[in-house]
Order: sequence, then C-alpha cells, then structure tokens
Amino acid sequence: MTTLPVLEDLPPLAGKRVLVRADFNVPITTAADGSRVIADDFRLVESVPTLSWLVQNGATVVVCAHLGRPHGAFDPKLTVAPLQARLRELVPGVEMMENLRFDPGEEANDPAFVDRLVEGFDYYVNDGFAVSHRAHASVVGPPTRIPSVAGRVLAHEVEVLSGLLSDPARPFVAVVGGAKVADKLGVIRALALKVDSLLVGGGMAFTFLAAQGHAIGASLLDPSSIDACATLLDGPTQIVLPSDVVALGPDKATVASFGLEIADGYAALDIGPDTAARFAAIIASAKTVLWNGPMGVFEDPRFAKGTEAVAHAIADGPGFSVVGGGDSVSAIDHLGLEGQIDYVSTGGGASLEFLENGDLPGLAALRNSPFRGALG
Ligand code: 3PG
Ligand code: MG
Repeated sequence: MTTLPVLEDLPPLAGKRVLVRADFNVPITTAADGSRVIADDFRLVESVPTLSWLVQNGATVVVCAHLGRPHGAFDPKLTVAPLQARLRELVPGVEMMENLRFDPGEEANDPAFVDRLVEGFDYYVNDGFAVSHRAHASVVGPPTRIPSVAGRVLAHEVEVLSGLLSDPARPFVAVVGGAKVADKLGVIRALALKVDSLLVGGGMAFTFLAAQGHAIGASLLDPSSIDACATLLDGPTQIVLPSDVVALGPDKATVASFGLEIADGYAALDIGPDTAARFAAIIASAKTVLWNGPMGVFEDPRFAKGTEAVAHAIADGPGFSVVGGGDSVSAIDHLGLEGQIDYVSTGGGASLEFLENGDLPGLAALRNSPFRGALG
C-alpha cells in the first residue's frame, strides 16, 4: 500500500478553509435533568492534535461527523450539540456541522451531498479512522473533489495496525471474543495467517467447541458458521479454545462451572478459571498481543472474571499490546488499565476490517484522489 498523504503535505493554510471528517460517535447518556452527557470523550480528545495543528497553521476548521444511526432523518436525541460543546472546550474556534446522518445522502454516498459538503472548502482531512470502513459520502467523497489528506488519528491507526500485519514481534498472540462468530470469521481467518496463537473466548467460542463435537448446552451457537470454524481448527495456526466455563442455569439464577461438556439448558457466559490461567500464560509469553472482544458477559460481575483476567494479563505482559473494539476498550477503562496498554484503537469495526483486508474505503479514497498532485 502506498503511503497516505498527511497534514504536512498540505499547502500553506493561512486563510484556507479545511473540512475535517472526525469520528465522534461516542456514548451519550441522559442526565436526571434531561440533558445529554458524553459518557466517554476518548474519540474527541484523540482528535485534538489534528485540529490544533490545523488551527495553529492558520486554517479555519469545520468538523463533520455522525452520531448514532438516524438513517437519513432528524432525531433530536442524536444532534451533535453535546459534541459541539465539548469540542469548544478542547479546541476553541473550531466549528462543527450537524449530524451527517440526518441527511440520506451521507450513507447513500450521494454525489450531490458530497458537492454540498465540500462547498467553500479548500482542503479535506479524514481523521475518522473508526468510520473509514464505511463508503459514506463524507468518508470517500471529498477526496474526489478537493485536495485531501489523513489526520493524525487516521495516520497513527494505520501505522500501528499495518505494523501488526507486516512485522509483528513474535510470538504474536491474538485474543478474540464477543458474541457473533459470523461477524468476525473474516478477521479470524486473516489473523490465523499472521499470528502464532489465536485465543478464542466469548460467545463465539461455542460454535468452535460445537464444531469439535462438544456438548455446549444452551450456549450461543451459530449453526451456519460450524463448517468455517472446523476448517479453521484444521488449519496450521494454534487455535486455543476454552476448556472450562461459567454458565447460567435454565432457571436464570443458578451459576455453575463446567469442563468441556456443558449440561443441557446451561448457557456458558464466561470462560472458567483454568482457561483464564491458560490464556494468561500464553499472553505473558507473547511479544505482540492484539485483543478484540470480551471473554464473557462482563457487565454482569458473575461473568466478568475471564475478561478481567485477560485484561490484566495483557496490561501486565511485556509484549506490545493493542486493544480495539468498544467492549474490550471499556473493560480496560473500567479496570483502570488504559495506561498499561501500548495502543488503544479508536476503531472497532474499522480496525477489524483493516486487519482483515489491509485497507479501508476511506484510505483508498485518499490514495486514489486525483488531487494528490496538488499536495507536497
Ligand atoms: C463506530 O462507532 O463504530 C463508527 O463510528 C461507525 O459507526 P457505524 O457502525 O454506525 O457505521
Ligand atoms: Mg460500530
């Protein structure tokens, strides 16, 4: 992949207008007085270096972003007002447009919407790594209209994730969890070609265990993915599955532990202590660790120990650690371990898609822009 154009490639910015696509799709809660409060401003804080650099270089900066999935219609609960307020505190003088997804042209990548978006702007900066897997108007359109570069967040994400794909220190261990195996089969296949060990936990592990013929009780099963899991298990990469679990009984109250065979009616909701210890030992010996997806239903303290053990092992381990995906990142934050992780990705779906394909629509748009010649 040829390198991305970056901020330093822009011509002098004094008096110029710059449109910045950010990903400020952050969790927002409603306070007792009805006001909307940002629950986690990580993605806004991360954008400060790009925005400050542009302002310091004399540009007038306008940010555009989406919030939630309003699918082309106005929704008063999804206006960007709380984001605008926080942004004003973080980088005074930067403007922000209303939620892009209030307009159906955004998700449809409508050329007329792209025209309206870039009107009056000299340059475009994509700093929304976490949305760069979407071929939406604000992500892929502006580079077809005006000179366009990658911001700091985007460039840094691509640098770190490309490093994992091209030259990871070994052993390279990936820890994958979460509920939906079908969503992650593509990235699991791609990672299996790169890593030395792939540890699988969370709801998705039970389709793998079913593929091996184990009794999984009432645990999550994706029948349509059994064959794909069996093929992966037959492949050359070491895939490590849970060997014990913590499960919830059919009365939805009893919690019981099982080894590899889970009783009828019991749904496994966490990896067990033996599995956690095995995973931790493999993580401790890794030189590079990538984690995406929790090991269980960690919001419930009865099923949080596996995710906590993995989080601590990654934080304590000597290897270069990369964590992506909203649930894994919130587990890390909740445990106060963010300072011990080498790299926390702003992108969930985007980081997985990048690891799977080595590229994203938003990156290709920057590389293929007909205006690249206008840049340094
Ligand atoms: C995210 O938060 O994952 C990104 O902003 C993308 O949002 P989307 O999944 O609604 O496209
Ligand atoms: Mg998402």
